[in-house]
Amino acid sequence: MSSRIDPETVRRILDTADIVDVVSDFVKLRRSGANYKGLCPFHDERTPSFSVNKARNICKCFSCGKGGSPVNFIMEHEQLSYNEALRYLARKYNIEIIERELNDAERQAASDREAMLAVNEFALNHFEHNLTETEDGRNIALSYFRHRGINDAMIKRFHLGYALERSDALYSTAKSRGFTDHYLESTGLCLKSERTNSYYDRFKGRVIFPIHSVAGRVLGFGGRTMRSDKTVAKYVNSPESTVYVKNRELYGLYQAKSAIAKKDKCILVEGYMDVISMHQAGVENVVASSGTSLTQGQIRALRRFSSNVTLIYDSDAAGIKASLRGINLLLAENLTVKVLLLPEGDDPDSFAQSHSASEVEAYLKDHETDIIAFMIEILMRDVSKSDPIARAKVANTILQSVAMVSDQVLRMEYIGECARRLGLSENVVALQLQKFSAVRAEELEKEMRRQQARDVGRDIIPENGENAGKAEANTTPDNIRQESITSSVPDKNLVRAGSNTLLPYERMIMRYVTRYGLTYFCDLADADGNLQPGTVVDYVVADLSMDDIHISDPALSSVLEAVKKLRSDSWPDDRKSIEKEAGEERNRRIEAGHDEIRQVATDIYDIEKRERELAAEADAAYDERLRAFDTDYLQRRLLSSDDDTVRLISTDLISERYVLSKIHTKFAHVESEEEQLSTLVPRAIYELKAAILAGYIDDTKRRLAAVSPSDTETFEKLLRTIVEYQELQKEFAKTMGERIILPKHS
Ligand code: UTP
Ligand code: MN
Repeated sequence: MSSRIDPETVRRILDTADIVDVVSDFVKLRRSGANYKGLCPFHDERTPSFSVNKARNICKCFSCGKGGSPVNFIMEHEQLSYNEALRYLARKYNIEIIERELNDAERQAASDREAMLAVNEFALNHFEHNLTETEDGRNIALSYFRHRGINDAMIKRFHLGYALERSDALYSTAKSRGFTDHYLESTGLCLKSERTNSYYDRFKGRVIFPIHSVAGRVLGFGGRTMRSDKTVAKYVNSPESTVYVKNRELYGLYQAKSAIAKKDKCILVEGYMDVISMHQAGVENVVASSGTSLTQGQIRALRRFSSNVTLIYDSDAAGIKASLRGINLLLAENLTVKVLLLPEGDDPDSFAQSHSASEVEAYLKDHETDIIAFMIEILMRDVSKSDPIARAKVANTILQSVAMVSDQVLRMEYIGECARRLGLSENVVALQLQKFSAVRAEELEKEMRRQQARDVGRDIIPENGENAGKAEANTTPDNIRQESITSSVPDKNLVRAGSNTLLPYERMIMRYVTRYGLTYFCDLADADGNLQPGTVVDYVVADLSMDDIHISDPALSSVLEAVKKLRSDSWPDDRKSIEKEAGEERNRRIEAGHDEIRQVATDIYDIEKRERELAAEADAAYDERLRAFDTDYLQRRLLSSDDDTVRLISTDLISERYVLSKIHTKFAHVESEEEQLSTLVPRAIYELKAAILAGYIDDTKRRLAAVSPSDTETFEKLLRTIVEYQELQKEFAKTMGERIILPKHS
């Protein structure tokens, strides 16, 4: 047990840790009024409900409720104890911790834990004794186990027991042995009744499944009712406590661990009975998640013994779909995941009970399927061939899982398989996968940086030594404006194969382009310097070309080309006929209005006023019709493009929900995305440029760190370059009219 941190240091850590800073290491935050918002890291979501309040130094998810202070956030996110979280923050902020001996309070905490484990140990013996040495135990509980086909060896191996029907059977025995109310309550074995002010047994009248730690200590219990009565809970479990941390424990791991290590495979089932029956059938590398979906902590406990996992499902489709969501967690932890479907109507318990050991083994061996093939099978089952959006959705779900796989050979196989089964070209599948991989790579890189920060503090580590000092010839700020930034950047850094750090920024720009590309944006100067009405895509193209920036992602770039082509080829003519129609409609409206006005108006001034209003109305209707035509035209053409890449990527971009939409529905006065285009589009472009610049600074810093100490000339040159970039950054920020947090790069 590690020693505690002295209160003075704790205070320093708590004072220093800044919630925005801490959360930003894991969540991409955007400013939203006085707060920051991002996607909640604690549950899956597509619209941000995770809010960070800098002034109060707290965060909170309005959807799942998780969050809190910086320490709470780290505890929850990194699955650390309070002390470990403090240490994490201390490392992050370079605060030194002076280690010291345990004090009395800590000794107390350590002995609390021991005391709870001792009570559990006593209870286990008590329950086991009840099962075989009392008449009720034998008549009721033991015969129940026999009835379920459980033999004596399994009863012993899993220390199955029975809690007598009397409500203080355990409590009074425990007290007579000197155990205190306090620990009987903190372990959850007994509860206090407020009404009678007395204690009663939690598990009364149930058969008992003890839950062991990997090391074999008894952490808690599950108690099953023997009644088939649906009104009582089938299982009652020990509550979470300092000894029983549920999301770190797997039922049966203590009994299964040596078989898991030996076979280098772990079979995962749902329930207590499934584990026991499988063991009895001779398949001993089996553990249960106890009815909930797997957690990171459980996976980490498991992978100490093997990195191969087989999930057993009964053939209930709804259950399978629900649990597929947990699979990315397994894949992300680099586990090899297989799936096994049991015959209709069977669960592992019933299957193991009704087959011989060799039959069970043979079934397992023959019916294991690869997880991705299985996912395709299950998810495509109820998608109709003629529904491209639904198919794209399924493709995305599956490819997101494939993106978790790091084995390249497997990946190639998956690409082929997905393309074939999903009716897409391999090229498109590969592109889409690349996108998900980039996101994933970014996450991994963050994880790596966190690890590095843990290891060596916050030094800049030269990532690529031999690259040092090569490219500084064209790194003056001026070149940024004259040359394509992306093409002159050392390719190892910014545009790394498979992990394009600019991708999120490019995506954001392309979102606006695919949705509103043909909408009027502002007047732009043409080649002769005359102002002409410009669309969103015109503006984007003009602004990017000013800095000679190109969209680096090939898929996004081909979408941009498609929009540009529509804009110059078919749209102007198609629009003319609509303009004509809308113009005629407008004139009809005004004419009809004029006649009416003359009949109802009171005097000449009234006529004038009404005519002005009428004209304004008719103009607005005209504008609205053309605006609707522009967005509709673009989106429809893109979504039905005959180019697979264009169609798939723009489906993705157009159907993605607007990040502010949730707020928008809450506060009706907030403008819609479309109404905010005049700020959103320039900002998206700005953010891309800022990211390029930040990456550039980073790269120079890396080279700086790798310069040999004797080479003062290069050193100073690089240093100057960095300063110049930073000046440029500041200037850049000013032109945006507000300070924008630059994306962090190291
Ligand atoms: P099952 O209902 O499949 O239980 O729930 P089981 O283990 O197969 O039990 P039998 O065969 O009906 O006797 C799977 C697991 O979910 C948890 C338990 O851990 C159970 O083993 N569970 C289920 C609960 O914690 N509470 C419940 O009310 C139900
Ligand atoms: Mn069952």
